[in-house]
Amino acid sequence: LCSSSSPLLFVVLTALQGAVFSISRYDFPTNFVFGAGTSAYQVEGAAAEDGRTASVWDTFAHAGLLKDKSNGDRACDQYHKYKEDVQLMVDTGLDAYRFSISWSRLIPNGRGPINPKGLQYYNNLINELIKHGIQPHVTLFHYDLPQVLEDEYGGWLDRKIVRDFTAYADVCFREFGDRVSHWTTLNEPNSLSLGGYDLGILPPNRCSSPFGANCTRGDSTVEPYIATHNCLLAHASAATLYKREYQAEQHGVIGLNIFTYWVSPLTDSAEDASATRRAFDLFIGWFLNPLAFGDYPETMKKSAGSKIPSFTLKQAKQVKGSFDFLGLNHYITVKIKDDSSKHKTDQGDVYTDMGVKRIDGWNRKPNGELPYDPSGLQKVLEQIKQVYGNIPVYIHENGQRTPHNSSSNDKSRVAYVEGFLESLLDAVSNGCDVRGYFVWSFMDLFELKEGYESSYGLYYIDFKSTDLTRHLKLSANWYSSFLKGGSMNI
Ligand code: NOJ
Repeated sequence: LCSSSSPLLFVVLTALQGAVFSISRYDFPTNFVFGAGTSAYQVEGAAAEDGRTASVWDTFAHAGLLKDKSNGDRACDQYHKYKEDVQLMVDTGLDAYRFSISWSRLIPNGRGPINPKGLQYYNNLINELIKHGIQPHVTLFHYDLPQVLEDEYGGWLDRKIVRDFTAYADVCFREFGDRVSHWTTLNEPNSLSLGGYDLGILPPNRCSSPFGANCTRGDSTVEPYIATHNCLLAHASAATLYKREYQAEQHGVIGLNIFTYWVSPLTDSAEDASATRRAFDLFIGWFLNPLAFGDYPETMKKSAGSKIPSFTLKQAKQVKGSFDFLGLNHYITVKIKDDSSKHKTDQGDVYTDMGVKRIDGWNRKPNGELPYDPSGLQKVLEQIKQVYGNIPVYIHENGQRTPHNSSSNDKSRVAYVEGFLESLLDAVSNGCDVRGYFVWSFMDLFELKEGYESSYGLYYIDFKSTDLTRHLKLSANWYSSFLKGGSMNI
């Protein structure tokens, strides 16, 4: 199947023998897109090469804040290996590759002059994909804000970010939009607000939560709300620009991505049921309510009081409807417990404000694999449809985390992806307008909190090796067979 991984082929083929596909890609609508994804800092490497400057993610990693104290300096070295990777995508049978552009590689000062080498790199990658018939699905921002903008005005906490993000997006639309027809402005801004400004576990490592450790405590607990507001305005501004200046000519679409949990009440008490509705608003409505209706959910406005910014009429008008599709990242189901007795809007972090306690260790697996509840995907899609209408959706991320090791026999990943595809198909059959599905991740990469200790990849990489060869796993072979029509004739 792929020459670089042939030593493992025998093992993989043996493991696949007798596998039965319960579903086929042909059960999905025609034109349904199947792909896999990565993001710039997690795979590119070449962190200080050809004019790239640091992002907040480089700073976070170099401060030793990851479990294994690693960083993305070299990562998978896709910067130099993109041709090999595109060939692997072809071998795997992907229709599309989801990746992100490193803002600080393209515009090292955050705004102003374009870095010709950065421009060249993304043109090369996009051209290579197009040459091989693989659709580029491009994200503009995946946690990696240029450090210079963080230093200058506090990044997402300042309204200036709207201007600078829009200018950066403009460069991308102008330079790449003739070949890129799927744009995502921001990846998981809800994780950014909660992880980067509330819990202090993601860059830029700020926290409101009293439980945050090793993080910079914000002056007030208002930061996550401000960051969200500026993310929404930046998204809407870039999307408006795209629609006004580029869409008619380039025929592309633009959307926003958010992470989702399926939330279910811990007990059958009325309090937990109501906390679960608030949790849906917190994880999904915080972004989707403004996008669909032009305002934050009532529960959030009530819980956060004066901490949550108000949309001006002009802002509400720009944000409402500013998307052609929604990208969803979905992995797990969490239980929700009512926590409203602690309600204090002046001191609390976002979870406390909302009176929501997330219980996600209830079904955790000892080896770090994600708990498996595929029905959560169908439920979350159907709930979004019920509350917000039948929005076109791409499942941008879904996949199984395993400890990072060289075993090619990642059966749990195969079972996970297959189970979620079945659940997705149920949602589609029930009328949810889902247009595509991307496995996270195309290959092992630099992971958010764990660095190189855990992996989601279809291909294995030994990060200590000199050549970073990509090795086929069972899951890559399984996905490939699925993408080629479910035939085991390989
Ligand atoms: C969320 C993020 O978008 C991605 O960067 C991360 O690696 C995966 N999901 C898995 O945690």
